[in-house]
Amino acid sequence: MYFKSVELHNFRNYKDQKVEFDPKLNIILGDNAQGKTNLLESLFIMGLGRSFKTTNDKEMIAFGEELSRASSVVMGEDRETQIDIVYNQEGKIIKVDGLKLSRTVDLLENVYVVVFSPEDLRIVKDGPEHRRRFLDRELCQIKPMYYSDLGNYKKILKQRNSYLKEDAIDRDLFEVFDESLVNYGIRIIEERKRFTERLYGICGGIHKDISNGKEKLAVRYETDIKDRESFKEKLRESFETDRVRGYTSVGPHKDYLGIFINGKDIRIYGSQGQQRTASLSMKLAEVELIKQETGQNPVLLLDDVFSELDVGRQKYLIEAMKDVQIFVTATGIEQGLMEIMPAGNVYYVDNGKINLYNKQVNS
Ligand SMILES: Nc1ncnc2c1ncn2[C@@H]1O[C@H](COP(=O)(O)OP(=O)(O)O)[C@@H](O)[C@H]1O
Ligand SMILES: [Mg+2]
Repeated sequence: MYFKSVELHNFRNYKDQKVEFDPKLNIILGDNAQGKTNLLESLFIMGLGRSFKTTNDKEMIAFGEELSRASSVVMGEDRETQIDIVYNQEGKIIKVDGLKLSRTVDLLENVYVVVFSPEDLRIVKDGPEHRRRFLDRELCQIKPMYYSDLGNYKKILKQRNSYLKEDAIDRDLFEVFDESLVNYGIRIIEERKRFTERLYGICGGIHKDISNGKEKLAVRYETDIKDRESFKEKLRESFETDRVRGYTSVGPHKDYLGIFINGKDIRIYGSQGQQRTASLSMKLAEVELIKQETGQNPVLLLDDVFSELDVGRQKYLIEAMKDVQIFVTATGIEQGLMEIMPAGNVYYVDNGKINLYNKQVNS
């Protein structure tokens, strides 16, 4: 699947903008703060119903405006889908082919997007939270059930945490909380384990190729929870300390995604170059995994990361991803590289205005 076009109205720094895309490659050039990332954000939202930059939907509304709209035509296997998202002061309204969705989760299977931005380098560089977020984002997209399990888990966790802080507590009430926490939590853990195993199966080979056979990349889901019983047991054991802290200290919200290069934890031992390559391998593996799980080609959004890669990796990426639609943003791309790029469109973004600069380079 691919994006045919997008139309933005009062979306971030875009007043009124319509753009048609190349089914394969779209290069978006422009100085800083002109709107490159905002354009990719609008596409990402078509896939997941929320931004990769913020959880606050109101940020999508152009400063000083009441309402914002982003619409897109997505080309699927044999038909087009029209997606419209309107943001107003109350929230957002999502429509698919003119029909209003009652739940965001129903948007998910229309188009799959994978974004790779400087933030994603943090998957390998930073702590457990970014890694969990990485797992959650991908799983939410390919498993609507996971999306609702995670939402429910978080809701109960929040309630449980706030009750832990109360002076007088009712242990029976905690039995009820724990029962649902365990129900959703176990499903989350199982899906994350399964996803990580599949990801491992794919990213190892990709990483080996990118590192010219020198490095072995491994990912592993790490949790202390074995099954329902062990989760319940741990909740019981930690109850008193959790009371003191006012926080639930066990559960999938504390689990870890281990990433290793040649058997060593990449966060501690990896060089910057290795970390960068590992996050690229994981992103490319994710594209492959979406293909396998959904039977659809996702769209790959590369925000500001392309020029960070060396020429060898840039070539590898373009070659490996030749059957998916790619969006690349950069302040500039070297002529030498432009010449080896497959056919595609080049756009120039200037202060919230997008111009098609050169249609079908190298065609
Ligand atoms: N809600 C908004 N309304 C108007 N402008 C916005 C809004 N949110 C962000 N911007 C502007 O968008 C610009 C940043 O756009 P961005 O896409 O991140 O730039 P870049 O081209 O560097 O990727 C900034 O000038 C910022 O002020
Ligand atoms: Mg940017």
